[in-house]
Amino acid sequence: MHPIPVRRMRFEVPQTGFHPIYIAGDAMLSYQFTGLGLYVALLEPFIVKSARRVLPRITDAALAEEVDRFCRQEAQHYQQHERFNQVIFAQGYPGLEARYERLRADFDRMLEHEDDRYRIGFIEGFEANTTQGALHLLASGALRHRETDPAFGELWTWHMLEEIEHRNVAFDIYQHLYGDWLFRARMCWVAQAHMARFIADCRRIMSAADVPRYGDVCRIRVKDHALGVLMRLVPRFRSMAPAYTPHRYELPSQVARLSARFTEQAESAT
Ligand SMILES: [Fe+2]
Ligand SMILES: [Fe+2]
Repeated sequence: MHPIPVRRMRFEVPQTGFHPIYIAGDAMLSYQFTGLGLYVALLEPFIVKSARRVLPRITDAALAEEVDRFCRQEAQHYQQHERFNQVIFAQGYPGLEARYERLRADFDRMLEHEDDRYRIGFIEGFEANTTQGALHLLASGALRHRETDPAFGELWTWHMLEEIEHRNVAFDIYQHLYGDWLFRARMCWVAQAHMARFIADCRRIMSAADVPRYGDVCRIRVKDHALGVLMRLVPRFRSMAPAYTPHRYELPSQVARLSARFTEQAESAT
């Protein structure tokens, strides 16, 4: 099996009993993932379109295959998230759909008015953040926590695993075509700040609507905000460093175990 397998999964979307604090009983973490699930449903189609546009210029055959697999993994991600996001939109958050549409307009603008280097840099900025977040998340055990909704826990475990599997591809495209560190560092800032703004807006919108109906468990506290800022800035600065490369990550043994388990569970895997 190729190290970036393309799996077709079938996750059951919970139809009833949704509670907004569905990861480890933690409001900050739960809203973070809800916001990220909305973000990726629009980012990942943008990734696929942007990477496919530069594919004809990739002269390394092994990298070209990885890019194709990267696109196919991302395409599976956003399709699954769109199904789960229907549950989120059904909660009736005032202003959430409008914010989502503004995000869609951002990606449409980037597809139309920015160049390939900007888009590939943007994608690498996002992937550099995701890989660090995914490794941290798997190590934390939050997705297996007894207060984590199993359906959302499985969706995110699979998604984070595949983010780790394709962690090198966006960086390698950027290095192959451009290799300019300063611009890559700038795009790490641009992409990660763009995502952070969207998720912070989602968190504000959702928490404001949920506190009256579900109580204080949905409130984001000052210390959570402070921790959130730290959690955003540490990976951002790390990925902006001139010597940053995703090729140096040491993967924990659970990555290989999860990879085999999801391949086994998949409707198909190639
Ligand atoms: Fe993804
Ligand atoms: Fe990704």
